[in-house]
Amino acid sequence: MSRLTTEIKQALIDQACLYQKKAYAPYSHYAVGAAVLAEDGQIYGGANIENSAYPSGLCAERVAIFKAISEGNRQISAIAVVTCNGGSPCGACRQVMREFADLDMPVILADDEGRVVFESTMDGILPRSFGPEDLEK
Ligand code: THU
Repeated sequence: MSRLTTEIKQALIDQACLYQKKAYAPYSHYAVGAAVLAEDGQIYGGANIENSAYPSGLCAERVAIFKAISEGNRQISAIAVVTCNGGSPCGACRQVMREFADLDMPVILADDEGRVVFESTMDGILPRSFGPEDLEK
């Protein structure tokens, strides 16, 4: 796993906790916060945003990643996700992460008190993944 300083790891967890409180989740009542470290050195946070037409909502991880990418970034180097119970990113979010992450990118899952529940890597949570290089051949 690529190294993450204690300070940056804590900053990612803090930001994910902050964003979890901004979730718009009136249907599931399952609030998620995410934070990604982007190549510009900034941390981008996101929360899940649900919709009365259920499939139109978006997960916290993708909100955070798309914020970073739409600011011009093309690489993320760490992600933290906060839920009440340390829940794991869905498959669609893992694939979106994979587009912009190295396989050794740290993935931190924490509960809403900021306690780390699980730590892994991009490859750890999405093994044998399909990515941009697969289209280069
Ligand atoms: N959710 C996320 O924000 N991230 C995930 O990776 C899993 C699920 C959200 C979507 C929905 O608003 C709520 O959690 C319940 O599925």
